[in-house]
Amino acid sequence: MQEQLAKIKKDFLKAMAEVKDILQLEELEQRFFSRRSGELTQAMKNLKDLSVEARQEFGKLANEVKHELEEVFAKKREQIETAKMGDVLEREIIDVTQPKLPEKEVGHLHPNTLVQNDLEDLFTSMGFMVLDGLELESEYYNFTTLNMPSDDPARDTQDTFYIKGHSDWVMRTQTSSMQVRALEKYGAPIRMVVPGRCFRNEATDAAHEHTFCQLEGLVVDKNISVSHLIGVMKELLRGVFKRDVETRLRPGHFQFVEPGFELDIKCLICGGVGCGACKHSGWIETMPCGLVHPKVLAYGGLDPKEWTGFAFGLGMTRLVMQKYCIDDIRHLQGGDLRFLKQF
Ligand code: DAH
Repeated sequence: MQEQLAKIKKDFLKAMAEVKDILQLEELEQRFFSRRSGELTQAMKNLKDLSVEARQEFGKLANEVKHELEEVFAKKREQIETAKMGDVLEREIIDVTQPKLPEKEVGHLHPNTLVQNDLEDLFTSMGFMVLDGLELESEYYNFTTLNMPSDDPARDTQDTFYIKGHSDWVMRTQTSSMQVRALEKYGAPIRMVVPGRCFRNEATDAAHEHTFCQLEGLVVDKNISVSHLIGVMKELLRGVFKRDVETRLRPGHFQFVEPGFELDIKCLICGGVGCGACKHSGWIETMPCGLVHPKVLAYGGLDPKEWTGFAFGLGMTRLVMQKYCIDDIRHLQGGDLRFLKQF
């Protein structure tokens, strides 16, 4: 037993002298101290086979050896750990003069997108589909199918940008350009809205821009009348302004609706008494609309005797400006972060 302990101690000290890192140290711990198969643990377990006297004698010795080895082991571990820490500190260079790195900027939605998202939710809740249209559109869908043939003077009110060498393609002037495309693709009955950008060759000022957003609506079904149009418009305005608003219809002229209307809302600021915002009339012009012209239905492949419908064109940009009290349309595309960060 004595010899066995002496050999374990010798082997342990020899192996310990060769240990260079923590991994080797852990291997050594396994080899000598492991509870199940450690050499020293094994020797201690053998004590129980000895006679009582021998157990007393060698038990004491075995404990001394164990403590001695554990002490050597603990010292070595401390040495290795301090050396490692020193290494890390030596490699780590902290430049205390380095300026603070800029914080990551988190983006957010543009006010146009916020309003568009709300409107899409509202219309889908009423069973409308939301369609994407083409920003570069053929003259045919932008004008001709909307009852504006090539010699129609009504085209002059919507001058836009043309593509060199492709004079029959234009930057669309109105999202109404999707009316006939949608009828051709989906037929009737149909309930759809098309939000998106439109373009006009405008001299810009606080109220006019070459790029702005509209939302076109179209419903075609059997026996559609002006009362359906008014019902949907009221629901839309209630959703937008979060309260009941009083409306009135005035006659308005657009080539692709008959009859055509301008829908006004009673001024939300003065309640109809008259103020600067409503030009002292008590009413604010909000939405052009009307019953779909039979020629448009025919372009869409439908029989106007069988089908009727209504359409409306919501000026989304104007709505964004009203909602957030923006006094100059040019802010919306100016890219000025001082403006955009307010939303
Ligand atoms: N697209 C027309 C414009 O930009 C607005 C409009 C008027 C749309 C009447 C409609 C409508 O759907 O029925 O001036």
